[in-house]
Amino acid sequence: MRLDSPHINVIIKACMKASRFLIRDFGEIENLQVSSKAPGDFVTSADKRTEKIIVEELQKAQPNYGILTEESGILNGSNNKNRWIIDPIDGTMNFLNGIPQFAISIGYEENDEIKCGVIFNPITNEMFCAEKGNGAYLNNSRIRVSNKKKFQESLLVTGGPKQTSKIKEKIFSEYIKISKNVTNIRKFGSAALDMAYVASGRFDGYWQRELNYWDIAAGIIIVKEAGGFVNFFEQSEEDPIKKNILASNSNIHQNLKDLINKKDIE
Ligand code: IPD
Ligand code: CA
Ligand code: CA
Repeated sequence: MRLDSPHINVIIKACMKASRFLIRDFGEIENLQVSSKAPGDFVTSADKRTEKIIVEELQKAQPNYGILTEESGILNGSNNKNRWIIDPIDGTMNFLNGIPQFAISIGYEENDEIKCGVIFNPITNEMFCAEKGNGAYLNNSRIRVSNKKKFQESLLVTGGPKQTSKIKEKIFSEYIKISKNVTNIRKFGSAALDMAYVASGRFDGYWQRELNYWDIAAGIIIVKEAGGFVNFFEQSEEDPIKKNILASNSNIHQNLKDLINKKDIE
């Protein structure tokens, strides 16, 4: 890895420590105690323990930084200038089903801007990371978004709707509309890895509604530093944590944006 700032180093250390337990838990899925947060949105003891380890490591390094996590919400609330944004396991449903498509995702934000981030899949041992101005990496190699120019030839990825979504029909019709204009669309079940795969050129673009900031915080800087474009659309004014995102290579970005904004003809 060519990135070597104190922030990146502390995130990587926290990821490595937490992932030792995660790898063991993944091998013993059946024994994990599972409780239901809401239909289709499970939280496992692995999520909670992973988050605890990460929070402890980050707090040890920077006791005064703010923290936003999926499982505990806002910690150290007073500091919004420097914040860690954590999703301990992004892709819990995959994790629970023994599918090795999940990741730890940690972003570091300064004055409302993500400065660096790491997305780590401990099973495939792929670590995607980036730092503002210093590029994006997959393990030791520099990554770039794809160079696909023709929108019709692009391979996209998306996710949702959640079981609890109130806009399922809208999400399904958007999916149909976009799928008619591209080569194909995948649904892999981890927003963080979806972003990382756009950054590394495996997918040409990604869009999704009804995400939370921790799903994509690290992905934002990784896609941008890999030369991609990231945009938010229809941002909720009441809830800044809720996000609708669009991330892609620069060539197809406008096409995807136009298609999302295009009103359906009745
Ligand atoms: C979920 C994943 C999934 C996305 C959901 C997220 P979780 O996160 O990112 O790909 O479709 O909207 O909630 O619950 O596994 O951390
Ligand atoms: Ca999660
Ligand atoms: Ca998530």
